[in-house]
Amino acid sequence: MKLFLIGYMGCGKSSLGRRLAKRLEIDFVDMDKSIEAEAEMTIPQIFATEGEVSFRKREREMITKLGSTEGDRIIATGGGAPCREGNLELINSFGSSIYLKVPPKILVERLCRHKEKRPLITGKSDEEVAEFVNRSLAERETYYNRASMVIDCAGRSDEYIVEHLYNFLKYNR
Ligand code: S3P
Repeated sequence: MKLFLIGYMGCGKSSLGRRLAKRLEIDFVDMDKSIEAEAEMTIPQIFATEGEVSFRKREREMITKLGSTEGDRIIATGGGAPCREGNLELINSFGSSIYLKVPPKILVERLCRHKEKRPLITGKSDEEVAEFVNRSLAERETYYNRASMVIDCAGRSDEYIVEHLYNFLKYNR
């Protein structure tokens, strides 16, 4: 089983993915961390030295690499990974995808606390982040909504979401 968690920056793909993998006793992989290890650079360094186009190419290659490696695993993708033409179809060809849907207001609150880790919002004021999130989330949802499953995370605890996904996956593996 390959399960890709997709969704906007700050929606909880990595933290929920790690917990769910533990619960299912399978491996967890953070795609951004795999890209960083392979490039021997952080994501901000890749954006600064190679540019976003090169990062997106690395992302697509990593989807194929992680998707075609043997074994069950949960893969947390970067927020933009499914939003290039063909990438979500590529993801779904390797397994299932789950969109973690979180309201923009909550994403903005979370993202404004850690702007420096994410080149797309680094240097923006809180107002600019809010404007950027609202605009790009609306564009990206066209892709996110094509996931195998959408889970509405609004007002739900991490424990609830993990148990919900665990029960679903236990009977649908
Ligand atoms: C990005 C999201 C980031 C990272 C990069 C670009 C995006 O991952 O891949 O900064 O385009 O939304 P997270 O979603 O884990 O923050």
